[in-house]
Amino acid sequence: MQYPRPRTILSALSLICTAAVPARGGSAKSYIDVDTGTSFFGHVEPSGYLFGMMTPQQPTTDFIAQLVVPLTNGAGWGGVSLGSSMNGPLLLVTWPDGDKVMTAARVASGYTPSAVIPYTTNPIALSPIAQGTFVNSTHVSSTFLCAGCINADSFDPAWADDEHRDVFFGYAYSQTAVDDPSDIDTRLSDHTAGGAAGSYGDFPVVLANARSNEYDQYAAMAGADGRSQAPTSSATSTAVGSATSTAPPRPAATSDGEIPPLELVVLVVLGAVYLLQPFIA
Ligand SMILES: *[C@@H]1O[C@H](CO)[C@@H](O)[C@H](O)[C@H]1NC(C)=O
Repeated sequence: MQYPRPRTILSALSLICTAAVPARGGSAKSYIDVDTGTSFFGHVEPSGYLFGMMTPQQPTTDFIAQLVVPLTNGAGWGGVSLGSSMNGPLLLVTWPDGDKVMTAARVASGYTPSAVIPYTTNPIALSPIAQGTFVNSTHVSSTFLCAGCINADSFDPAWADDEHRDVFFGYAYSQTAVDDPSDIDTRLSDHTAGGAAGSYGDFPVVLANARSNEYDQYAAMAGADGRSQAPTSSATSTAVGSATSTAPPRPAATSDGEIPPLELVVLVVLGAVYLLQPFIA
């Protein structure tokens, strides 16, 4: 395990790192996640619901997912269907249990909450990435390595080679609490209320645009972090990188939601140390 080097080296590294952050152009649907500084490709609803993803250049079985879901009085859930329908494809859902983030793989055999059950068809492991996984006063955010999530119930990795191919994913969220937030297998609530209370629909995704050169570095940050999400019944603690031990805790947001500048500098510096570890070891 590596620890941060002396301050002089750190300052130099932070400059290099800042310059090395790739500027992503092109698609209007790419965004920089404010909590991790990483570029994702995804879909945002006016309500604040967001699904984002990042894959390797040649995706096989895994990708990194990000779900951000609006909450009302700390309650609600949201998810994504990795297909155009709710019924059938792999579903990923997240909700808060107090300040803990719960994230689960599900599958539906119908269009009611009780038809949505834990996904067990293929092995899947959801490993949280701490910086993008938190509950605040308005949202729950879950960022995780979704290992095994590219499978017969989601999408064909070869589609990522086709920059003109749209696939359709579905979104759903509700501001009504799940039955038992502490139970990873809990029954979800209805998401069809409409308006601010809940909504659903589908959206096109060009998987080729989710490919990222940052994938490997970012995936290595996934780990079993006690303060974030509970494991699903099939989850294992895969890919625990050294980054989890040196990564700073996410700074508390100030009242206007900005990260304080000093803490931002610390984040950049520690990020630089992590990224450049192979070169300065
Ligand atoms: C909570 O986090 C979400 C996702 O990062 C962000 O959009 C929102 O502004 C945050 N809310 C507050 C009050 O900081």
